[in-house]
Amino acid sequence: MTTNDTSTPAASTPRRALGTASSLTVSALGLGCMGMSEFYGTGQEADGIATIHRALDLGVSFLDTADMYGPFTNERLVGRAIAGRRDEVVLATKFGNERAEDGTRLGINGRPDYVRTAADASLKRLGVDHIDLYYQHRVDKTVPIEETVGAMAELVTAGKVRHLGLSEASVDTIRRAHAVHPITALQTEYSLFTRHVEDEILPTLRELGIGLVPYSPLGRGILTGAITSPDDLDADDSRRTAYFPRFQGAALEANLALVARVREIAAAHHVTPGQLALAWVLAQGDDVVPIPGTKRVRYLEENVGALGVDLTADDLAAIEAGRAARCGRGGALRRPLLDRRLRKQRSRGDADGGLAHADACDDC
Ligand SMILES: NC(=O)c1ccc[n+]([C@@H]2O[C@H](COP(=O)([O-])OP(=O)(O)OC[C@H]3O[C@@H](n4cnc5c(N)ncnc54)[C@H](OP(=O)(O)O)[C@@H]3O)[C@@H](O)[C@H]2O)c1
Repeated sequence: MTTNDTSTPAASTPRRALGTASSLTVSALGLGCMGMSEFYGTGQEADGIATIHRALDLGVSFLDTADMYGPFTNERLVGRAIAGRRDEVVLATKFGNERAEDGTRLGINGRPDYVRTAADASLKRLGVDHIDLYYQHRVDKTVPIEETVGAMAELVTAGKVRHLGLSEASVDTIRRAHAVHPITALQTEYSLFTRHVEDEILPTLRELGIGLVPYSPLGRGILTGAITSPDDLDADDSRRTAYFPRFQGAALEANLALVARVREIAAAHHVTPGQLALAWVLAQGDDVVPIPGTKRVRYLEENVGALGVDLTADDLAAIEAGRAARCGRGGALRRPLLDRRLRKQRSRGDADGGLAHADACDDC
């Protein structure tokens, strides 16, 4: 394992290609912007903007947002941050997890007329004339995927969108969507903590030439070692709620034991636990581009350091042997909650067949 510092000049930040049929070159590490506006405590807009600016300075130019983050305020924040720097950015946003301006959840919407409306609204909020990568945030089981992707493909023809993506989609949905228009990337949770994607999804993506964008590559923060109790989280942090069982009670205790193992391996290599976790995701293939989220410049800089961590085959084997954090608890292990949530999603018709883990927050 070798490391470097966090002063990677933008020009030397490695890049990776997502997708082959419709290829999009991005920085090997992206920046998740969600937590700047919602879910993970209260952030100041100025800090979010400073973090985005520092990311661009460091060459971390693949920015991830969604219309439902805030709702809407995160796209506006990103739009303000990239004003005047649009050419430096590969901009990804999402639609389909419909919310009202006051935050009320309206359900999953993949109807073609809504796709068109949502894209125009995102373009306006972001202050741009095109979106580089436009994802369907959640699959709408009431609308054939062919119709949703057909409408997304029209956005490409109209020049409003350059590449298409899906999030949390099943193998069957991915295949059907890709047959309508090349899908460039699938965004789904993937980390040392959550590895269900390895079973069927990743092989399918590789067969079809679709890139993987792992969200929550730090396990929603737990893999950094910075969270040891719900008390470490702001009062309004959604990770304190039952939506995130990995941060609750016995599941949290078990997960912290796994994080301790990550910390041990990281310390032996003079990197932080978060850097080890990100380096592990980066080592899973050149078609994998994680988007760790932060609202803080110092965390961003630390995370960029993961690009200089080269895990050897021996390192990867040691991590695997230690099962550093394979399948953290509070995911599939909390069956009653999983069942309850899946039942709720299915009754709303918004759970895709690929959703096999309880902790993939269907709300963000
Ligand atoms: N497609 C989907 O359904 C979906 C779902 C969830 C997320 N996402 C996207 O994926 C992005 C990343 O996922 P995520 O934000 O959920 O989880 P994550 O990247 O695994 O973790 C984010 C959390 O880790 C903390 N953190 C980041 N770097 C750190 C460091 N070096 N040291 C200590 N703590 C650190 C952040 O703290 P601070 O907030 O204090 O900076 C934040 O609380 C999101 O921003 C969003 O764009 C997509």
